[in-house]
Order: sequence, then C-alpha cells, then structure tokens
Amino acid sequence: MTGAPWSTGVGRLPDGALAVAGVDVRDLAAEHGTPAYVLDEADFRMRARAYRTAFEAAFGAVGAGVDVYYAGKALLTVAVARWAREEGLRVDTASSGELAVALRAEVPGAEIGLHGNNKSDAEILRALDAGVGRIIVDSLVEIERVARLAAERGVVAPVMVRVTTGVHAGGHEYIATAHEDQKFGLSVNAADGAESPAMAALLQVLKHPELRLLGIHSHIGSQILDPDGFEAAARVVLRLRADLAERSGELVDEVDLGGGYGIAYLPGDVALDPERVAKDIAQSVAGVCQELGTSLPRFSIEPGRAIVGPAGLTLYTVGTVKPVTVSADDGADFTRTYVSVDGGMSDNIRPALYGAAYHAEVVGRTSAAETVLARVVGKHCESGDIVVHEVRLPADVRAGDLLAVAATGAYGRSMASNYNMLPRPPVVAVAGGASRVLVRRETEDDLLGLDQG
Ligand code: LLP
Repeated sequence: MTGAPWSTGVGRLPDGALAVAGVDVRDLAAEHGTPAYVLDEADFRMRARAYRTAFEAAFGAVGAGVDVYYAGKALLTVAVARWAREEGLRVDTASSGELAVALRAEVPGAEIGLHGNNKSDAEILRALDAGVGRIIVDSLVEIERVARLAAERGVVAPVMVRVTTGVHAGGHEYIATAHEDQKFGLSVNAADGAESPAMAALLQVLKHPELRLLGIHSHIGSQILDPDGFEAAARVVLRLRADLAERSGELVDEVDLGGGYGIAYLPGDVALDPERVAKDIAQSVAGVCQELGTSLPRFSIEPGRAIVGPAGLTLYTVGTVKPVTVSADDGADFTRTYVSVDGGMSDNIRPALYGAAYHAEVVGRTSAAETVLARVVGKHCESGDIVVHEVRLPADVRAGDLLAVAATGAYGRSMASNYNMLPRPPVVAVAGGASRVLVRRETEDDLLGLDQG
C-alpha cells in the first residue's frame, strides 16, 4: 500500500499503475471518464468506525456518553449517508438540501442535526416535520423563529445554542481571543458588565415552552492538528453550562464540540490520531467537570474531513505540458513545468480559496525519468486555477497521462461549481475490486436544462 495522503486501499500494481481497492485507475478512467472523484468505501467506513470507537472508548472511560455526527457538508450523497449510519454515526446537515439527502438515505430524523446561521422558515419546518434530533440555533432572531414555527406545528423543537468561545483553531496553531469577528454563534464574552450573548440566548430558549434546550454547541475551526484548541473550547463551554445552571437551575445534558479534526494532505503530514485526541479531550473535560462540581454531559462531535477527506482522490487526464521559465527572487531563472488537466478550480476550489496544498502523482504508468518541479493547473480561464501548487512529477509527464490528486474526498465535490460551464465530475465508489457511480457526471444537457432561453 502507498500510505498517506492516499486512502488505505491505494497501492501500485506490478506494472506501476495505481489501484484503488483493487481497481486499476486505468479501468476507472476508461469506464467513468475523467475528471472523476474516486471514493474508497472501506477507507471511509474504517475512519468513521475509528472515530466512533475511539471517542466511545475514551469518553466511556471517564463515564460520559458520546455521539459522532458525520458532517455532511464535507461530502454528502445518499450512499455516503448510509455508510455513515451503518458505521454507527449520525448525520450533521447544514441546509434543507443536505437534510433531503440524509432523509433520502433513510437516516432517522432523530439522528440528524440541522445547522446554519440563516435557516429559512422552510428549512426549519422541514426539520421539524422530519423530527430532527436537534436544531442548532445561531442567533436570538432564530430562537424566536424556531419557537414560532414549532408552535405553528404544535411540536417542541429540540435545540442547541451555538456559542463562540473565543478559541479559534486551524492549521497547527490555535488562538484564544476575547471576541471573534465572524458570523457564527453567540459569544460567551460579555461587553463590560453586560450579560454575554451566549447566556442571553440560553436563557431565552429556556423561556419558550415550544423549545427544549438540549445543550451547548461549539465548533472552533477546521483542519486542526493540535488538540489543545478543543480542550480550551470545551473548558469554556463547560463553564458556561455551570454558570447557566447557577442562573436557571437547568444543567443542560449535552455539549457538542464540533468538527475540525485535521488530516494528511501531503506525504509526511501527520493527521490527528482519533484515539489520542479522544483521550486528551475526554480526560480534560472530566477534569473540568470535577473542578466545576458538575456531572458530565453527553458529548458529541462532528467530524467531516477526517472521515471522507483521505478516502477520496481525483483522477484527471493530462492535456498539455508547458515548461515556463520563472525568475526567482535571487535573480536566477528556473523552470516550472505547467501540467494542465481536464478539470480544475470547478472540481477543487480549495487551492484557489485557501491556498490549500495537495499531492499529485502520475498514476497510469511508472516512469524512470528524473523528476521536475511541476504545477498542476486546470482548464479554466484564470491564472489562479491551480490544482497543485508545487509537486515533483516525472520529466516525461505528457498528454494522455492519468494524474491523481490525493485526499480530495472532503470539500471537493461539495464545493464544486460549473464555472466555464464545466459539468461536475461523477463520484465513483470503489470497494472489493469493483466500482459504482454514486453521483453521475453532469452533462451539458443538465446545465442547459436550467437555462430557460
Ligand atoms: N461542524 C460544524 C458546525 C462546521 O461548521 C463544520 C465545518 C464541521 C462540523 C466539519 O468540519 P471538518 O471536520 O470537516 O473540518 N470548506 C472548508 C472547511 C469549512 C468547514 C466549515 N465547517 C475547507 O474546504 O477546508
């Protein structure tokens, strides 16, 4: 097997071509075309199970229950939602569309959460009608909106309040700041002498007979590689929970610590280890609850990327290769080989949006050639249409070569666009030596079908 950042089912065949779960990428390309998102089902299931069992064991050891919600925003298809459920995960959705996919997969409403900082009446009603297990409310306006709609339906809506703890994490660092200048959640920090927006929201929920306050939600960021941020945020949330109990007599049952568990994108990257991070967080929250003199709540987490990111790769065909002479800062010239593939920023916006780094390899053959400094680019009308900023590829890379980019399972298809009227690639699952289409390739007819002329 090839190792991170590739999925566990990826290996090289004797003739040097790459295979995913026993399927030759040349066969995948021939059958499904390129570009294509290829998903290693066993890898997805393994990671889903690894997160669930690690958190159940670690939190169980300190006497707390835990639920793992798969964050569907990373990639949600009907089959993917089923896999998550079959591995004992619940599903976190962030829109009516994601909710529709989870329901189509027959995930029970009670095992679905609905997020969003601006849910419409229609989205909230759909969630109430589906009997979702929790609606995570994000503002005072929304608390009133959910209460009104629950009253209209004659139901009691289960809600969590999303708070911002001042801990913001991502990449290798985390920062704890007093106030976060962003749209999500309600701050636990109060202006001088005032009540914090988070406390005000929690008290407001408790006033409504149409709402049942399940607990407090905190999501601190994404691609986090240092567990300290989770622990720092959990401490703040648990303190808020204790303060609320003091204010209202209500010790809420649940605390969600969000997603954000980081993965390997490049060879040599070390992903967060679910067992280690689960143990660290569990021991830390147990200690905090002891300090505060409160019982432990039931916890939940919402990993998306860590479940599906490594399971996916994108398969492209090389169209053109162009050496470009570049002047370095020190005045010396060097050559960068631009390798254009048949997709680009429409199937993976992350390099353009975040400067995200990826790893690519020529996967349809071996090459004995020296490597050259290459940049993999797409076919869109923008110089920022970069798929992989920097990677060493064999000097004989040429038109017709198959190229795979690793770890594209999360936020690739789910953030894809039709820029330049490119049809979005299919999602192809591979398991046990066979492939099947989970989401078919879009066609020009699909795109023209929307155009009313
Ligand atoms: N829960 C909540 C409330 C979230 O907002 C998110 C991600 C997650 C869970 C899942 O986070 P994960 O475990 O996948 O990191 N599009 C960006 C990431 C934005 C994520 C937004 N929220 C990217 O491509 O990196």
